[in-house]
Amino acid sequence: MKLVVGFLVIFMELVFGRVDQSSAQYLTAEPSCSSNASAAWVDVVLLIDNSINMGASNLNKAKSTIKSAFSNFPIGNNDQIKQGFHNTRVGIVTFNYEASIVAQFTDINNGNDLSRILDGIQISNRNESNLYDALISSLYVKWNCSGTVSIFPDDCPNDFRPVAFVMFTASPYPKINQKIPPMTGGTGLFDTDILTYITVNFNANDKLLATILNEITYNPLVKASMYNFSGDSDTLVNDLEWALLQGSPTILYDSSKNRYSRYAECPEPVTYQGVEYDNTIDVCKHVYVDISYEAPGYILSKEKELFVESLAVAYPYILPLYIGYHKNSASNWGSGYTNWGAGYPQNNNMNCTVIDSTDMVTFKWKNVLCDPQYSKVNNVLCQNYFCDAEHTDCIKYYRGL
Ligand SMILES: *[C@@H]1O[C@H](CO)[C@@H](O)[C@H](O)[C@H]1NC(C)=O
Ligand SMILES: *[C@@H]1O[C@H](CO)[C@@H](O)[C@H](O)[C@H]1NC(C)=O
Ligand SMILES: *[C@@H]1O[C@H](CO)[C@@H](O)[C@H](O)[C@H]1NC(C)=O
Ligand SMILES: *[C@@H]1O[C@H](CO)[C@@H](O)[C@H](O)[C@H]1NC(C)=O
Ligand SMILES: *[C@@H]1O[C@H](CO)[C@@H](O)[C@H](O)[C@H]1NC(C)=O
Repeated sequence: MKLVVGFLVIFMELVFGRVDQSSAQYLTAEPSCSSNASAAWVDVVLLIDNSINMGASNLNKAKSTIKSAFSNFPIGNNDQIKQGFHNTRVGIVTFNYEASIVAQFTDINNGNDLSRILDGIQISNRNESNLYDALISSLYVKWNCSGTVSIFPDDCPNDFRPVAFVMFTASPYPKINQKIPPMTGGTGLFDTDILTYITVNFNANDKLLATILNEITYNPLVKASMYNFSGDSDTLVNDLEWALLQGSPTILYDSSKNRYSRYAECPEPVTYQGVEYDNTIDVCKHVYVDISYEAPGYILSKEKELFVESLAVAYPYILPLYIGYHKNSASNWGSGYTNWGAGYPQNNNMNCTVIDSTDMVTFKWKNVLCDPQYSKVNNVLCQNYFCDAEHTDCIKYYRGL
């Protein structure tokens, strides 16, 4: 298991360090993550402020929003995703002076359980909204493995599920809450590689609260807060449902909706050493013991090209990089997006393609031999779907399942 974690670190760095700031504004999110809530298999902890600051009417709005937003999700406790069970697990933490776990995942088996437990939550007589304590308690809801909170423990199977913490709150008080952004912005237990933070602000007039929530949801890759919603928004139910379905770590700008969104395909440059395969398909399928990629990664649009170029800018050693584009059996290059360099493709036996650059500004395609043993190209863009409602491939990465 240590090996897998060690690997994860390297892998995650590559996956998550990768949005080109200059191009991020015009990237489009295709394909986006599945928006099919009825197939979602996410673990959600709802953190609900029940202090005086929230007030009964905001608390009721939070409850009805949650009920509506979850109405399409398959709530339940079967986490055997590799056997094809798509259940969304829900836990609830309320907070005022301190946090209380009101429902563990196992307490909520369907929408009725969720409604009943929500209905039982009352406003307390305290004026503290201790979200900090609620976040600590939420870790226990998600990762209490025999009394110890740790991520990816050996003895907690089926733990590699997308996780969302959804925070409903109305006050930045007490002061400990100001320690939340540095904590959630860090690594380890609160790493956003693992968690999606979603906030709903029920006190729009409080600048400090807005700052804290915007920082919690701030994504440094796209330089924006991604899931910071307002309690009085008309689109809150839909926004929440969408945010809960954002399982993948790759972020692009969705110009149709004017927001950043996650991208379901996971193109990954693989640099390999050791055994040299004679084709790129085998490289993608076998290069690591614990992962298998579906296939070499295709670049079918300018947006995706920019995305891969941004990876190369961050990790120049990945060039030249094989991409999936190759001659077909009739010896033709297919139609569709290409970015050939001047004089390419050369008309010879070089049936495969690499992306390369001499100055890291202009990137062009060249045709090369398909057999890496002869082309001497050791980097391949491999691709898979990341985890979302329809896809479970990330489980393969993490556990070699
Ligand atoms: C959504 O997921 C459900 C459950 O897996 C499936 O039956 C349904 O066909 C999916 N709907 C769409 C539009 O893909
Ligand atoms: C919270 O209530 C205490 C008294 O119970 C009061 O001293 C304090 O000023 C209140 N704080 C806020 C932020 O309302
Ligand atoms: C964590 O798990 C241990 C043992 O399973 C249990 O005794 C404890 O109450 C749990 N803690 C919380 C906060 O749920
Ligand atoms: C979310 O954060 C951004 C800053 O990144 C801010 O401009 C926006 O107003 C915030 N939205 C809400 C609802 O607070
Ligand atoms: C390249 O493709 C052509 C036609 O598909 C084939 O005849 C040739 O052998 C291939 N070259 C190599 C080096 O595989």
